[in-house]
Amino acid sequence: MNRVTIAPCHIDASACALMTASFGAAYAHLNPEKDLGVADLAAFFEAVCQHERDVERDRPEDIAALGAYVAGRLLGLIILDNEGELTYIRQIAVHPSAKRQGIGCALLKHAREIMKNRKFFLVTRRINGTSIKFFTSQGFRVDEAWSHPDYDSRWYVGLVEAG
Ligand SMILES: CC(C)(COP(=O)(O)OP(=O)(O)OC[C@H]1O[C@@H](n2cnc3c(N)ncnc32)[C@H](O)[C@@H]1OP(=O)(O)O)[C@@H](O)C(=O)NCCC(=O)NCCS
Repeated sequence: MNRVTIAPCHIDASACALMTASFGAAYAHLNPEKDLGVADLAAFFEAVCQHERDVERDRPEDIAALGAYVAGRLLGLIILDNEGELTYIRQIAVHPSAKRQGIGCALLKHAREIMKNRKFFLVTRRINGTSIKFFTSQGFRVDEAWSHPDYDSRWYVGLVEAG
């Protein structure tokens, strides 16, 4: 892997393309209706991206997005939502061609540096074993008590920084 640069970014078309590619690959082996409760995966990804863009437009003071760039190409993204003493990880996505090369770790490390002394939490799909393995490897624990109003707990579970 070439040198990874982490820098602030916006939730623009390339960020949305990255999220779609990343989640698309992660869910490729699943049955959208049965495993995700989603009829049309493409429409679902489009709606998620639009929502993230709307949140950044409507609450720019709360939202921080960081991109991971290799040779100028966006290969990773984390979207953080400042909730006072808490930081909610809205999204984290690494391009399928660049997974398991430390980019997710690098994004989270940088996020922790800029959001000092805040407890991080997130909500992920119960079926997303890779996401759960990634976050538990980074000091998070699955906790049913942590959720988010945007998400249905039949499909999603919370993870929070341990300690
Ligand atoms: C989850 C995700 C962001 C991880 O990013 P990544 O850059 O591949 O992760 P890293 O290379 O930094 O991995 C760090 C550690 O996480 C764990 N991990 C990551 N991917 C894993 C996998 N597929 N299986 C098992 N453990 C895994 C490992 O402990 C890994 O350390 P190691 O490689 O030294 O064993 C990436 O898989 C992704 O974009 N997934 C699709 C989008 C998504 O599900 N986002 C999370 C929900 S919001």
